[in-house]
Amino acid sequence: MKIIPKENLPGFSLPMPIYSAVRVADAIAQDGEEFDINVGLEKKYIEQLKKLSLDKSDTDLQNHTGDRARFGEGSYEHWYERGRTPFCLINKRSDALASLVWFGPKPLGEKSIKFRKDREYEKQNVWHTISCRSYSPFRGKRNMGEFTKFAIDVYKKHFPNIKIWAGTDDRNIAMVKLVKEIGFEFNQEYSDLPEHWLVTVRK
Ligand SMILES: CC(C)(COP(=O)(O)OP(=O)(O)OC[C@H]1O[C@@H](n2cnc3c(N)ncnc32)[C@H](O)[C@@H]1OP(=O)(O)O)[C@@H](O)C(=O)NCCC(=O)NCCS
Repeated sequence: MKIIPKENLPGFSLPMPIYSAVRVADAIAQDGEEFDINVGLEKKYIEQLKKLSLDKSDTDLQNHTGDRARFGEGSYEHWYERGRTPFCLINKRSDALASLVWFGPKPLGEKSIKFRKDREYEKQNVWHTISCRSYSPFRGKRNMGEFTKFAIDVYKKHFPNIKIWAGTDDRNIAMVKLVKEIGFEFNQEYSDLPEHWLVTVRK
């Protein structure tokens, strides 16, 4: 995927006011599909996100994420309150939400019950997490590596002192390959491999 950042962007700070968005780049995929890259999600894409999250036929999404509860049955607004910053790929032809990458503060390794009591990193407020989604028919098109790296670069400009980690089930092959592609390293201390909880950290 080729990404063409927008020039002379208006200044913005993150997280943005809810429902606002700034187009930060255009992108062209290997198969010729064209996309907007936005920071922030406008309301019409939140509606798409809700529908996609409820889609039972998307077994990868249902098996590997909590999006059904998070966005489908739960409230985007409630989720957003936790300081989340979404980046999205919007297909120019269909106006479909193609991919979503979001960031937000979260203690390193959190999710595994084993580490829930360790609030040290939260106090330091240094760790932010990244989560990635792509949706049919755009999943598996090799768009995510470049898009995710670009989103990280923009996010890090706004939060230069943070560290970024990703947590996934180690059987989620696409996500495991993606974090490797974007240069994240295995963190043994915070992973819980008997529970299939794989923690990787940006170098
Ligand atoms: C994880 C996810 C965001 C990756 O996006 P994607 O569109 O599949 O990714 P890409 O097409 O850019 O491919 C990324 C890598 O995964 C590999 N890959 C993608 N789908 C795969 C599959 N089904 N099996 C094996 N490898 C796969 C690609 O080959 C590529 O690796 P490579 O360049 O080393 O060959 C996407 O699969 C997804 O949304 N899954 C459901 C939600 C989810 O699990 N999110 C992560 C939760 S932690």
